[in-house]
Amino acid sequence: VCLFLLTVLLLVVGGSTAERILSRRTKRELASPLHVGGIRDPFGSYCQRRGGCCPGRDDLCTVPYLDTICYCDLFCNRTISDCCPDFWGHCLGVAPPFIGTCERNGNKFFSGQTYKENCNLCTCGTTGRWECEDNACLMEPDVIHAVNRGNYGWKAANYSQFYGMTLDEGIRYRLGTQRPTRTIMNMNEIQNDRLPVYFNSAEKWPGKIHEPLDQGNCAASWAFSTAAVASDRISIQSMGHMTPQLSPQNLISCDTRNQGGCAGGRIDGAWWYLRRRGVVTEDCYPYRPPQQTPAEVGRCMMQSRSVGRGKRQATQRCPNTHNYQNNIYQSTPPYRLSSNEKEIMKEIMDNGPVQAIMEVQEDFFVYKNGIYKHTDVSFTKPPQYRKHGTHSVRITGWGEERHYDGTSKKYWIAANSWGKNWGENGYFRIARGDNECEIETFVIGVWGRITMEDI
Ligand SMILES: *[C@@H]1O[C@H](CO)[C@@H](O)[C@H](O)[C@H]1NC(C)=O
Ligand SMILES: *[C@@H]1O[C@H](CO)[C@@H](O)[C@H](O)[C@H]1NC(C)=O
Repeated sequence: VCLFLLTVLLLVVGGSTAERILSRRTKRELASPLHVGGIRDPFGSYCQRRGGCCPGRDDLCTVPYLDTICYCDLFCNRTISDCCPDFWGHCLGVAPPFIGTCERNGNKFFSGQTYKENCNLCTCGTTGRWECEDNACLMEPDVIHAVNRGNYGWKAANYSQFYGMTLDEGIRYRLGTQRPTRTIMNMNEIQNDRLPVYFNSAEKWPGKIHEPLDQGNCAASWAFSTAAVASDRISIQSMGHMTPQLSPQNLISCDTRNQGGCAGGRIDGAWWYLRRRGVVTEDCYPYRPPQQTPAEVGRCMMQSRSVGRGKRQATQRCPNTHNYQNNIYQSTPPYRLSSNEKEIMKEIMDNGPVQAIMEVQEDFFVYKNGIYKHTDVSFTKPPQYRKHGTHSVRITGWGEERHYDGTSKKYWIAANSWGKNWGENGYFRIARGDNECEIETFVIGVWGRITMEDI
């Protein structure tokens, strides 16, 4: 018993040395483990014959074993072990671990080895079974299949840029708009019989409606949707004299008061900034999706100062050194529309695209084409598969799909910020008139700050 206690004491003392050496360990790490599929010669005496065990790591603490060597230092006690067969019994006083192997596609893997299955990490357990995490993935094959098999009015796709992410990560990194605090709605009834069945801003104002961008793994739809609506509105209002694509990065990096950058933000804060400080174009201040941590925010590289009559001028050059156009673009205060479908339509037709907040549900990520409506394909799954988060988008038009059986489906045309390979060229259509995903709850319009001299 005394000898055993002494050994344990030595092992504990040696622990920190082992940690220090860990990073330099190469040769033994590369050698194949000795005890694959069970310990051979389990009753042989090795460490005992050597005269004891070694603390920490000691690459010389070995004994001949079969046609090779085995170790009696604490360091050998890893998942894939090169310990002598009697190491556990003699040095630690415990039963030797079972060393399992797992199979996958005809290949053998050892305990502790891993592979990734979509968004879940699988580890070869000591019992020889794969133990996989149980996360809900952003791209669930059965959701895709169920949507495509069903008669939901829209089709789903497997997006490689989303594959391998969990649903939680999608909601955390691909959305990013905080719900605005409730304000009083102005419900002006409007008379409108002259609204067409189909309307698309891109057709009424060619060259003035900007293409969808890609926010990447940055929860900054608050900045993307605001910059996109302001870009379109300024282009329409100036009758094409200016068609700036405004910079979301300018907002993400510089509009930082009470804003979370790539960890989410508020559209009212974004509009405040556009009105009071203004932003430059995307080409002047290009978007840099975060590489390391999705929440990181770049340093603000653009400031402006007042030049009178509410106008502002940049005080720095463009972060893109090839661009010398650092004009600052501003907006007027935004205005909220009622949730009345007709009022939203009239606003788009008269003045251009609007910004809308929506609740993104788990099945929205796989949307490919058609008229989106949240489906019931995940209803029977555990709660971690049924999640949603708040997003903001740009509504650019509407339409109605007529069916042979005489029914029809009304939809909005909206631009997302997940790149042009998502959905219908970066756009999606979503059911109109029944507040699908709350898209009609909070809708914003705005004017650019444009004077005659700009035109
Ligand atoms: C030896 O390895 C096993 C399995 O990883 C672990 O449970 C045990 O705590 C280790 N013992 C020592 C003394 O490090
Ligand atoms: C989805 O795409 C990923 C990578 O792009 C691929 O590995 C996976 O097999 C695809 N899944 C399905 C169900 O098509």
